Amino acid sequence: MAKSTLSFVCQNCGAAYNRWQGKCESCGEWNTLAEEDTSGSVPVSIRSKRKGRTFALESLSGKSPDAPRLSSGMTELDRVTGGGFVRGSVLLVGGDPGIGKSTLLTQATSLLARAGHRIVYISGEEAIAQVRLRAERLGLSDAPVQLAAETSVEDIVSTLSEGAVPRLIVIDSIQTMWTDTVESAPGTVTQVRASAQALIRFAKKTGAAIILVGHVTKDGQIAGPRVVEHMVDAVMSFEGEGSQQFRILRAVKNRFGPTDEIGVFEMTGLGLREVTNPSELFLSERDLGTPGTAVFAGIEGTRPVLVELQALVAPTSLGTPRRAVVGWDPSRLSMVLAVLEAHCGVKLSGHDVYLNVAGGLRINEPAADLAAAAALVSSLVNAPLPTDAVYFGEISLSGVVRPVAQTAARLKEAAKLGFGRAILPESARGEAGGDAGLSLNAIGSLTTLVAEIAARGSRRGESGAQTEKNATPARFRRGEG
Ligand code: TYD
Ligand code: MG
Repeated sequence: MAKSTLSFVCQNCGAAYNRWQGKCESCGEWNTLAEEDTSGSVPVSIRSKRKGRTFALESLSGKSPDAPRLSSGMTELDRVTGGGFVRGSVLLVGGDPGIGKSTLLTQATSLLARAGHRIVYISGEEAIAQVRLRAERLGLSDAPVQLAAETSVEDIVSTLSEGAVPRLIVIDSIQTMWTDTVESAPGTVTQVRASAQALIRFAKKTGAAIILVGHVTKDGQIAGPRVVEHMVDAVMSFEGEGSQQFRILRAVKNRFGPTDEIGVFEMTGLGLREVTNPSELFLSERDLGTPGTAVFAGIEGTRPVLVELQALVAPTSLGTPRRAVVGWDPSRLSMVLAVLEAHCGVKLSGHDVYLNVAGGLRINEPAADLAAAAALVSSLVNAPLPTDAVYFGEISLSGVVRPVAQTAARLKEAAKLGFGRAILPESARGEAGGDAGLSLNAIGSLTTLVAEIAARGSRRGESGAQTEKNATPARFRRGEG
C-alpha cells in the first residue's frame, strides 16, 4: 500500500520540505510553503508492478528530420520563437495578469486558423462568451479557431486525440488545469506540474505544438510558472509597465532558437500592434534638452534598438543616499558610480541617484555604461547633453572606455533615425567604417567624457541661463576637501 507522504512545497519554486517554515530557502520567498500530498504525484496505476517495456537505443549520428516550424504570421512573435512554433514543442508564456497574454494568443491563433491550420484554444479562466467578446473586439470573430472552456486535462487530452491532430493548442492558463492522477487542489505545485506533464506527453506523442499560459504571481497563492519552466522547450515572458502601452515579449529559454531576441508590441484599443521599429517608439516621447537624459545605442538580439536613459541626481536628505534603478542592472549602476567617484572626481555620496530606462525596456548590455554615466553627470551638473548624440561603450573599473560588439549596426540605426553624432569607445573607431554618416567622438577614458559634459555645464552657468544651483566643474569636487 502506498504511504501518504505529506510535505510542505514552495508554491513559487517547488522546493519540498519536511516541516513548515516561513521562508523558502531555495528561492528566498516568504510564506509560500503549502502542505501537499506528494505521494500522489505518481499515479497508483504507474506505481503498480508493471514489467518494463524494452525500447530501441539510437546512435548519436542518426538523422533527425528538421524541426518543422509553424510561422505565426506575426513577425515580432516569430522573431522571439526563432521562426515559428516547432512541431511537438511546448512553450510557456508567462506574465503578470492583465498584461495581454490572452490578447496576443487570440491574435496569433486566429491568424493561423485563417491560414487553414487546425488550432484549438482552451480557456480555463474565461467563459466562452468572454473569449468571443475579445475576438469580436479584435475583429477576429470569423477565424475558425476551435474553442472550449475546460479545465480537466484528461478530458482535454481525450477530446484532442480525436480527429486530425491540432497544429497548435493554447492552454490559457496552466494554473487552472487539474488532473485526476493527483489529489492536490487545482493551482498547487503538484497539480500544475502533473497537468503540464500530461500535456507535454500529449505534445510529444502527437506532434502538436502547445502553448501554456502562466501567470506570474508573487503572493504564492497560485503556483508560479517557474515550476514548469524546466519541463517545457521554451519560456517567453510578456512584460510591460501597466501605465504604458509597450509590451515586450522576451525569450527566457528556447531549445529551438535564440534567447536574446525581443518582440515589441503596442497595446491599442484594437489589440496588440506589432512594432517593427522599436527605436522610433522608445524615442517618441523624448524630453529634448532636459539635463540627465542620454540616448543609448543598444543591441537586442540581432536588432539595434535606441533607447533613452534618464538619470536624476539630487542632494540627499537621508543618511544613506538612495540608489534606484528601473530597467538596468543595479550592480552595474553601483559600478559606474564607483568609477565616477574614484577616477573622475565626481562625488555622488551625498546624492540620491535614480536611473530609468524609458519605455519599460530592460537592458542587459554592459555597453550601456557610457550612456548611463553621461546621463548621471549631465543631471549632476544640470547640463543637457546634445540632443543629436548617441552613446555606447563599456566602462572598465579603471575608467577606461572599452569597445563593444556591433559598432557598425549601432551607428547605422542612429544615422537612420536622424542622429548626427556618436560618443563611442576610442578603439571602436576603426570598426565603425567611415560611411556611417555620423560625426564620431571617440573617447578613451571616462574622465574625458566627464570633462566635456562639465564644460557644457559651466558654459551654461556663465550664460546666466541657470542660477546658483547650477553646476560648475567645482561642484564635482564638493566634499573632497
Ligand atoms: P488580456 O489579454 O486579458 O491579459 P492576460 O491574458 O495577460 O491576463 O488583456 C487584458 C488587458 O488588455 C485589459 O486591461 C484590456 C486590454 N486590452 C486592450 O487594451 N485592447 C484590446 O484590444 C484588448 C483585447 C485588451
Ligand atoms: Mg488571460
